[in-house]
Amino acid sequence: MDLYEYQAKHLFGKHGLPLTAGDVCSDIDGAVAISESIGGPVVVKAQVKTGGRGKAGGVKLAKDPAETREVATAILGMDIKGHTVHKVLVAHAADIAEEYYVSFLLDRANRAFLAMASVEGGVEIEEVAVNNPEALAKIRVDALEGVTPEIAREIAVAAQFEEAIQGQVADILVKLWQVMVAEDATLVEVNPLVLTPSGEVLALDGKVTIDDNAGYRQPEQADFDDSAADDIETRAKAMGLNYVKLEGDVGIVGNGAGLVMSTLDVVAYAGEEFGDIKPANFLDIGGGASAEVMANGLDIVLNDPEVQAVFVNIFGGITSCDAVANGILQAVDQLGERVTKPIVARIDGNNAVEGRAILNKADHEFIELVDTMDAAARRVAELAAARKGA
Ligand SMILES: Nc1ncnc2c1ncn2[C@@H]1O[C@H](COP(=O)(O)OP(=O)(O)OP(=O)(O)O)[C@@H](O)[C@H]1O
Ligand SMILES: [Mg+2]
Repeated sequence: MDLYEYQAKHLFGKHGLPLTAGDVCSDIDGAVAISESIGGPVVVKAQVKTGGRGKAGGVKLAKDPAETREVATAILGMDIKGHTVHKVLVAHAADIAEEYYVSFLLDRANRAFLAMASVEGGVEIEEVAVNNPEALAKIRVDALEGVTPEIAREIAVAAQFEEAIQGQVADILVKLWQVMVAEDATLVEVNPLVLTPSGEVLALDGKVTIDDNAGYRQPEQADFDDSAADDIETRAKAMGLNYVKLEGDVGIVGNGAGLVMSTLDVVAYAGEEFGDIKPANFLDIGGGASAEVMANGLDIVLNDPEVQAVFVNIFGGITSCDAVANGILQAVDQLGERVTKPIVARIDGNNAVEGRAILNKADHEFIELVDTMDAAARRVAELAAARKGA
């Protein structure tokens, strides 16, 4: 589970990382009250689980409580990449001399952890990695050895932090590693870590992903799951669906995690031709693909306001394609007027001929049958692009 910045900072504070004073709230008066108690300039920050909040206008300075009111009014309720802002963090505004980047993440491919650090933080680190790779130090961290003060200093030196602050940065890295281990995180990131004009190093932003599989030994973390904030994901969870929201335009419904993963790939590939059309979600409805599960899946995907067209990609195995075809028809029937976007279906496998005949015969106004996965991906991307452009 990804955490909100305020939750990440709660964990940072618990493990002794240096932060600016601040608190979270979900209404304008609350924001003003926090601003009053902090005194002096603050930043009001949208709490959403997506990056690039600053660029989207979700991070704003306010010099006093009156301005906090204005800024909080603008930010609360705002939409950032399909995420509604329900909460804001109001934090003391720091004076910034330099912005840095530090993180630890699980490096699955190398069966280790990876430390990354750069004195060119603040901006999108992906850009630094591409345009100026030598400015991003990457150091393997052994899972058993962890980050000792010596290793932390090595990381700080490799990232070319000035000598005067290497000690502070190393201390921060040791504590950040403690967050990683003690909280069962798979990612901890600070961007920006800043240097103030008076020489203090502070974490101004925080990003943490915790490993849900360790939930049983992290009872305190249960409070972090306020997934009500992302309505689509909560509803999917309640229906027992394996759904992950992504940023894109093509809703995906498939059976089997492997098939859905490759569907995401072919849609992303086909979408390049139509001006960067991308898959909007991962949804694996499982092997059965019954009408009810199909209806739930379609309902979830069609409800995503970003979705312009849906790709139903089913491979009939134990469940034969004629049953799946009937399931799709019953599902659109159940959903009735809620079906407002084109659905491209590709069904293959056991009894494919019969399944396709059923869908062809039904001749539903929103359902289009395409025989191959590549052709279907191309068609759905085309439909999504056309609707998006309209
Ligand atoms: N407490 C603060 N005091 C002063 N400036 C701040 C503070 N918090 C953030 N900023 C400024 O705002 C910029 C963006 O903030 P932040 O990194 O939290 O959001 P973001 O990078 O836009 O969002 P995300 O990290 O989710 O992509 C920072 O690089 C920093 O310059
Ligand atoms: Mg940031």
